[in-house]
Amino acid sequence: MSTTDRETANRVEQLRQAINEHNYRYYVLDDPQVPDAEYDRLFRELQALEASHPELVTDDSPTRRVGANAETSFEEVIHRIPMLSLDNAFSDEELQDFDRRIRDRLKADDPIEYVCEPKLDGLAVSLHYEQGILTRAATRGDGYAGEDITANIRTIPSVPLKLRGSGFPDLVEVRGEVYMPKAGFERLNQTLANKGEKTFVNPRNAAAGSLRQKKPSVTARRPLEMCAYSVAVTEESVLPETHWDSLQQVSDWGFRINPEMRKATGVDECLAAYRELMDKRAELPYEIDGIVFKVNRLELQNALGFVSRAPRWAIAHKFPAQEELTVIEDVEFQVGRTGAVTPVARLKPVFVGGVTVSNATLHNMDEIHRLGVRIGDTVFIRRAGDVIPQVVKVVLEKRPDSAREVELPATCPVCDSDVIQIEGEAVARCSGGLFCPAQRKEAIRHYASRKALDIEGLGDKWIELLVDKGMVKTVADLYGLSKEDLTGLQRMGDKSASNLLAAIDKSRQPVLWRFIYALGIREVGEATAKALASHFGTLEAIAEADEEALQQVPDVGPIVAGHICSFFDQPHNQETIDALRTAGVQWQTETITAEPKPLLGETWVLTGALSGMTRDEAKERLEQLGAKVAGSVSKKTACVVAGEAAGSKLTKAESLGVKVLTEEAFVAFLESHSA
Ligand code: IVH
Repeated sequence: MSTTDRETANRVEQLRQAINEHNYRYYVLDDPQVPDAEYDRLFRELQALEASHPELVTDDSPTRRVGANAETSFEEVIHRIPMLSLDNAFSDEELQDFDRRIRDRLKADDPIEYVCEPKLDGLAVSLHYEQGILTRAATRGDGYAGEDITANIRTIPSVPLKLRGSGFPDLVEVRGEVYMPKAGFERLNQTLANKGEKTFVNPRNAAAGSLRQKKPSVTARRPLEMCAYSVAVTEESVLPETHWDSLQQVSDWGFRINPEMRKATGVDECLAAYRELMDKRAELPYEIDGIVFKVNRLELQNALGFVSRAPRWAIAHKFPAQEELTVIEDVEFQVGRTGAVTPVARLKPVFVGGVTVSNATLHNMDEIHRLGVRIGDTVFIRRAGDVIPQVVKVVLEKRPDSAREVELPATCPVCDSDVIQIEGEAVARCSGGLFCPAQRKEAIRHYASRKALDIEGLGDKWIELLVDKGMVKTVADLYGLSKEDLTGLQRMGDKSASNLLAAIDKSRQPVLWRFIYALGIREVGEATAKALASHFGTLEAIAEADEEALQQVPDVGPIVAGHICSFFDQPHNQETIDALRTAGVQWQTETITAEPKPLLGETWVLTGALSGMTRDEAKERLEQLGAKVAGSVSKKTACVVAGEAAGSKLTKAESLGVKVLTEEAFVAFLESHSA
C-alpha cells in the first residue's frame, strides 16, 4: 500500500467513525452534536472517497445502509430461541393475580422487583450480530419461524450496523420493536393522501407496511425507529444478573432503549407506574398500547420459566384501545364559520381511546370517496390522545345490502342556499354568505373590518354578543340598532354605545369597491373589488353580469367569476343587499370614463416620501387612471414617482432609463388628467 493509499484508508476509517458517532447521538440518544450541514459534509466526503476507492467499501459503512440493488428476500428464518408473546392483564386485579402467582411459585416473602417498560406498538424484530456486525434481521413470524428482512432493517438509522465498544460476545441476538413515531406517521399519511393513495390505519400498520417492502430504498424513506427490549446471547457468555443491567449493556452497544423504563418493587408500585405512564401516553412521541412488567432478576426468570407460548415472568397491562369498530348510522353535513360544508359521521356510540365517541368528521367528499364510506358501513374508529376521532377504514366484509352512498346536499342544511363545489377544490361551500346563520358572525366581522366598511368599535366581542342575543341576523340589522339595544348589553356604557352607533352610521356611504369587498364574496379581495367597481360602475351591473362579462375584468378568471355569479344568484344575498339599501346604505357609483383609461396596462412605482398626499392616495389616483402600482422597479416599469429621499428604486429607474417624475411633476400630471 502506498502512503497516499494508507492516508485515504485512514481518512475513510476516520470519517466512518465520526459519522457513526453522529448517527448514534442523533438517532439513538436524540442529542446531536453537530449541525446537519457538517454531518452532510462528512457524509459526502466519505461517499466520494468510496466512489474513487471501491476497494475500501465495507458492508458496515454508514453509506451502505441501502445496499445497491439489494432486495429483501423474506426467506424463512428459524429462531434459535423462540420469540414468545406476552400474557395480558386487563385490570388491576389481573395484575395482582399475576404478582401473587409469581410469589407463590417462588415462595417469596419479599416483594418482587419488576422492570416496567412501555409496550411499544410496532413489530418485534430479532437482530443477529456476529463479531459485532449485523448479519441477519428477522420478523417474529409465528414465534418459531420469521422472515429475513435484513436489507430493510439496515436502513433504520437507530439500528447499529456495527456494535459500539468492545466486550460483546461473538454471537449475540438483540430483540426489540420497530415502530413509526407519531409525527412521521402523520407526515407519511398526509403525503399518501395528497397523492390520492391508500393511507395507513395507524403507526403500527405503517411500520409493518414499511418493513414488508421488497425494495429497501422504499423502507429507507419511511421514518422508522428501533428500540431494544431484550438480549438473547446464543453462546456461552457471562450475563448480568438482572434484565435491567442487560438493557444497560445493550444500550452501551449502541441501541436505543426506552427512556421511560423504570424499576418497581411490589405490585403497588407497578400499578402506580401503569397510571403514570397512561397519563403520559398522549404526549409520548410514539404509540404505546400498555406497559410490560418483567421480573428483574434473570435467575428468577429462569426459575419461573414458560407456559405454552408466554413467559411466566412477564405480563402486559393494556391501556384502553385507540381503535374500535362501530357502525355509521348516518352522515350529516355541518356548515362552518367560513361556509365550508363538512360531512360528519353519526356513529353507533363506541368506547375508544378512553371516551365514548358518537361523531367523527369525514372532512370532505374526497375523503369519503378515498375511504369508500357508505351509510350503514362498519368502520374502524381511531382516537389517539386528544386527537379528534377519525374514521380510518371500512370493513367491506361487513357492508350490509342496505348500505347507502353519501351524497353532498344540493342546498345548505342551515340556510337552504345552494352548495357550491368548485372543481379541483376539496371543500364544498354554502353560497349563502351574508345570509347564512352559520356564517353570520364571520360575515359581520368581515363587513365591519377596516378594509371593508371600517366600523370602528365593532369588534369580535360585540359581534358575538349581538348575534348570540339574536339582535343582529344579517349586516343590515346593524343599521336598525338603537342606543337602548346597545346599552342593554353587558358592559356597554353610554359613551361606547354612542360611539358604536356613530361608527355604524358613518359606514352608510361607502365607495362602491369597499362595499363589494364587504359583501365577502369568495376570493373577491380588495384588488378584485376595485377592478369590478371601475369596470362596471354599479353594483347592479355586476350583479347582472354573466361569467363571460365578468371575465373581461382584469384578474377575474373563471373561478372568481363563478363565485361572483353564484353569490348574486342566491335570492338571500339579494334580499340582504335590498335590506341594506332600505336601511339607508348608499354605495356610491363609480364614474366610468367614457374613454379608455390613459394609464391602462402601465405599471407605476411610488418611492420616497410625498408631502402633499399619502402613498395610499397617490396609489388610488393612479389606479383610477388605470395604472397598476408595483413595489419594485423593472425594465417594464412605465414611470417612477420619486418623493423626498428616494433611494435605491430611483437609482435603479435611472440606470434602466425608466421615466421619473418628481412630486411636483406628478401633481401636475394628475391635475391634467382629472375629470
Ligand atoms: S417482551 C418474552 N417488551 O409485545 C417477552 N415486548 O405481546 C416477549 N412489545 O411481540 C416480548 N414492547 O412486539 C416485550 N418492552 C417490550 C415490548 C414488547 C412491545 C411487543 C412485542 C411482542 C409483543 C408481545
